[in-house]
Amino acid sequence: MKLPQPFQYQGSKRSLASIILQYLPIKMERFVEPFAGSAAISIACVAQNRASEYWLNDFNKPLAELLELIINQPKQLSDFYRQIWRDEFEDAIEHYYRVREDFNRTHDARLLLYLLARCVKGSVRYNSEGLFNQSPDNRRLGTRPETMQANILGVSMLMRGKSVVTSFDYRDVLASTRESDVVYMDPPYQGVCGDRDARYLSGVSFEEFVTALERLNTRGIRYVISYDGRLGTCSYGEPLPACLDLTLIELEAGRSSQATLLGRDDVTVESLYVSRSLAEKIGVQPRTHRSQTAEQMRLLGANVKYGKVS
Ligand SMILES: C[S@@+](CC[C@H](N)C(=O)[O-])C[C@H]1O[C@@H](n2cnc3c(N)ncnc32)[C@H](O)[C@@H]1O
Repeated sequence: MKLPQPFQYQGSKRSLASIILQYLPIKMERFVEPFAGSAAISIACVAQNRASEYWLNDFNKPLAELLELIINQPKQLSDFYRQIWRDEFEDAIEHYYRVREDFNRTHDARLLLYLLARCVKGSVRYNSEGLFNQSPDNRRLGTRPETMQANILGVSMLMRGKSVVTSFDYRDVLASTRESDVVYMDPPYQGVCGDRDARYLSGVSFEEFVTALERLNTRGIRYVISYDGRLGTCSYGEPLPACLDLTLIELEAGRSSQATLLGRDDVTVESLYVSRSLAEKIGVQPRTHRSQTAEQMRLLGANVKYGKVS
């Protein structure tokens, strides 16, 4: 089943959702996403009717407000998008920069939807003053209003009446979790090969994150985390420490487009960590999920590098 997705988002776990869902209980009371982004995993869960309630949170306030509008005011939001998208026919690029300026002045979440639909690869990018400074994708006009409306209505139909959206720091969300909750965490990337990514890093320090996880362990809260990973032989992010007693699942996310362009055979491998309380409950063992493309290349005898589960 094709899931509705109103906007592309840098770091979205949409393509890995079906595997990640295998590590969540079949039925949950409340599913909590403290780093929701585009809410890809919650949307996948709700489509399978896995939880009675959803708590979406993202520290990026206009983004959280956008999720709220998608869920609770789908018609108004779609109409606004249609209007603003139509406007751009006269002078697409100039229009984008005008909207960007308006967004930086007003932080209006509806404008963010347009910017996400129209900017390069849906990647939010802020300068040191917190202003959105991503450029338009000159090759695309952005999602057509009919498609946007269908996606927004689709998400709203799935999530309305069972979702709460907030914009707190993740630690405040974790502190308010209940014993019956299941939490999925996808914190900002930590950068590739030590090359740290300034877009996200301000959000989460490794030490504080580990401390927050220790607290969840003490309280017996069940959780799953997408965290570090590898691109070919190059690791990104520090692995989570053994003292947290997590089960590591490695997910091959396929070849990076950069590697394909360069004719290299690097495969991106993302780590998924399952908390002890959850691993015990659903009987999880460490393993690697291979992507189809990487597997085909292996069968063809190509030199694909991949690691083993530690
Ligand atoms: C990798 S993205 C999540 C992507 C998401 N899983 C998806 O599928 O779209 C990480 C998100 O964490 C948010 N974030 C950064 N620091 C945060 C913090 N301290 N508390 C809560 N959210 C934070 C960012 O705004 C970003 O949207």
